[in-house]
Amino acid sequence: MNIAPNHTPDRATDTQPVILTGDRTTGPLHLGHYAGSLRNRVALQHSHRQYLLLADAQALTDNAADPEKVANNVLEVALDYLAVGIDPELTTIAVQSALPALAELTMLYLNHVTVSRLERNPTIKTEIQQRGFERDVPAGFLCYPVSQAADITAFRATLVPVGEDQAPMIEQTNEIVRRMNRLAGCDVLPEARALIPAVGRLPGIDGIGKMSKSAGNAIPLSASPDEIRDAVRRMYTDPDHLKVSDPGKVEGNVVFTYLDAFSDDQGTVSDLKARYRRGGLGDIQVKNHLEEILQTLIWPIRERRTRLAEDPGEVMRMLRDGTDKAREITQATLDEVRSALGLFRWT
Ligand code: TRP
Repeated sequence: MNIAPNHTPDRATDTQPVILTGDRTTGPLHLGHYAGSLRNRVALQHSHRQYLLLADAQALTDNAADPEKVANNVLEVALDYLAVGIDPELTTIAVQSALPALAELTMLYLNHVTVSRLERNPTIKTEIQQRGFERDVPAGFLCYPVSQAADITAFRATLVPVGEDQAPMIEQTNEIVRRMNRLAGCDVLPEARALIPAVGRLPGIDGIGKMSKSAGNAIPLSASPDEIRDAVRRMYTDPDHLKVSDPGKVEGNVVFTYLDAFSDDQGTVSDLKARYRRGGLGDIQVKNHLEEILQTLIWPIRERRTRLAEDPGEVMRMLRDGTDKAREITQATLDEVRSALGLFRWT
């Protein structure tokens, strides 16, 4: 399979808006990523200049003790990207830690952000709690929004497709952008806008919180047919819907939430919802319908992923090309920022 043609043309034109987004490389991606952003990215790559970061440096901010896991998942996430239809001819995929300009921009920006501002970031606050850091927050973790600001600005991205929880990161990015521009006396960096999907975060199969690998309630994009079947069987429905003839609740019923997210036939879904509410439609029937949809969705992704994984060298070549291109772009931005600020330069 030809995933990285040597002639890699830059199909995007200068007039196309720039998109930058990324994923921490902590594990293979799952259906929640697919519904929340991957399928958007596949669509957006045709109309935008798109960059995807394999955010291994950011992943270390809360996985410092597990560098091997973070490193190993760079290839896994890259495989997920390619498997869902990210096309390296249209999207540049790069490894974050291999772009030194990002680290340098981060260092520069850190001088323009206060510790109290970082501590007020609502996403960081929640994440500190979730990770049980309490008073022992790694400095790198507290500062990751600044490194993310470096990611976004280094590519001069104006659109950042992310989940709702990432909106504070874009806000913080724009505060930094405005400060830098004021200091430089010109618009050396563009402001960015979050592109948040209309559908909220996909819940986990247990209906408790969002889908996440660590919560054990996720369906990976590489799930086998048996894993898919098993996950759908275990899926949370309406606990009060005991008999088929009982009226059931659709709200908070994970099976229906997934049908909303993945069915191409919303007419059938409305029909099923009406019958379920009325009573007379069993969980098993709805689950069978959902299972068929998920099997059909995941099957080609899994097949493609398996084939790509047989030739990791080819994927590595693609990553190297993307990272080389990204290194040039990010270095150029760093040079411009340094020069706009009048920082030291060799003469
Ligand atoms: N914070 C994002 C996440 O946890 C990953 C990420 C890193 C990112 N750099 C980014 C997202 C830049 C958007 C833009 O999934």
